[in-house]
Amino acid sequence: MPHRRKARRLVPSLVDWFAVHARELPWRHTRDPYAIWVSEIMLQQTQVATVISYWERWMSAVPTLQKLARVKPERVLKLWEGLGYYSRARNLQAAAKEIVKNHKGQFPRDPAAIRTLPGIGRYTAGAISSIAFGLPEPIVDGNVIRILTRIFGIRENPKDKAAQEHLWSLAETLVAKADDCSALNQSLMELGATVCTPRQPDCAACPVTRS
Ligand code: ADE
Repeated sequence: MPHRRKARRLVPSLVDWFAVHARELPWRHTRDPYAIWVSEIMLQQTQVATVISYWERWMSAVPTLQKLARVKPERVLKLWEGLGYYSRARNLQAAAKEIVKNHKGQFPRDPAAIRTLPGIGRYTAGAISSIAFGLPEPIVDGNVIRILTRIFGIRENPKDKAAQEHLWSLAETLVAKADDCSALNQSLMELGATVCTPRQPDCAACPVTRS
C-alpha cells in the first residue's frame, strides 16, 4: 500500500489508542502555549519522570511569560538547576522577552513566527502549534523517526536530507488527517516512549501492527 494511504489509515488507531493509554502528565491538563512550551523545552534532553517536578515548580514560580520576561536570570537558572543544558533556560527567558516586545505579550499562533524564537526549532514549534493551538503541524523527533521507519519499512538513513523530508512529509500527512491534531502528535510521542521503544518494543501492545 502506498505510504500516504497507509498513513491516513493509521490515524484513528493512533488517536483511539492515545485516548486510552496516555500517561497522566501535568502539562496534559492545559492548552496554555506558555505552559506547553516550557514542558517541551524541559523534555528535549530530560526524562519525563524528572521533568514533572521541575515543570510544576517552574509553573508555580513563573506562571506566565510576562513574569518570565521580568524575573532575574539567577532565579531562572536556580529553577533549572539540575536539569543541565542551561542554554535552554536562557533561551526561554530571551524568547519571553521577545514575545513581550514583538508580540504584545501574546504567544504567537503562527508556526513560522514561533520558529523564529530563540531555542525553538521545527519540532518544538510543531509540538506547541498542535498541542496548544490544535493546528495540523507535524512533529519529527527521535521517537517519531523510530516509529515511522518501523511502520513504513523505511531503510534510508534518517539523517539523510531526502529521508528527513520523507519523514516530515509522512508526519504531515498523519496530522493533516486528524481531527484532534494534539492527540495525534502526542500519540506518536507516547507510542515511542512506552511501546515502540528502541530496544525490545512491545509489538503485542501496538495499535498499528494490524492496520
Ligand atoms: N516528549 C516530548 N514532548 C512530550 C510530551 N508532550 N509528552 C510526553 N513526552 C514528550
